[in-house]
Amino acid sequence: MGALKKSYYIKSRDFIRAGEASIKIQTLLKSLNFDPKLIRRVAICGYEGEMNVVMHGGDGSLSFAILPDEVILEISDDGPGIDNIDKAMQKGFSTASDEHREMGFGAGMGLPNMKKNADDIIVESEPGNGTRVRMVFLNNKGGDDG
Ligand SMILES: Nc1ncnc2c1ncn2[C@@H]1O[C@H](COP(=O)(O)OP(=O)(O)OP(=O)(O)O)[C@@H](O)[C@H]1O
Ligand SMILES: [Mg+2]
Repeated sequence: MGALKKSYYIKSRDFIRAGEASIKIQTLLKSLNFDPKLIRRVAICGYEGEMNVVMHGGDGSLSFAILPDEVILEISDDGPGIDNIDKAMQKGFSTASDEHREMGFGAGMGLPNMKKNADDIIVESEPGNGTRVRMVFLNNKGGDDG
């Protein structure tokens, strides 16, 4: 069986449509009878990643692949990139603007939350060269046969 793959465009600063790709992934996994806990973890990571592209990144995409034993979620954008990835991964670190904070964002918890909810995470970024976050979720409970 080949991998099932999907890719969705994420538009920078589009707060109206932000989060839509994560909802689509969530719906897809539900229809395939994935473990609700795994779906929840993927949805949290997808949402946080999408919001980061919308707030901090440039235009980008959320790509998704279902493999026999794992789900892979990759969120990338062509924005300004992250200066210091180690710092960005720390709880509470945020460069969110006052406007973002008024909307309830900017706690500096998105990347730590992604790290907590994914089985593996790789963040790659270069200032001026965009950001790519790749996450792996192990699917040890299997699909429709439990
Ligand atoms: N795609 C991205 N492009 C550029 N910078 C990013 C990107 N994603 C994260 N960052 C940087 O990493 C910081 C930490 O991100 P994180 O998601 O943890 O917190 P936040 O987005 O600031 O707040 P929260 O997610 O809690 O609303 C951001 O404030 C930003 O400086
Ligand atoms: Mg965030």
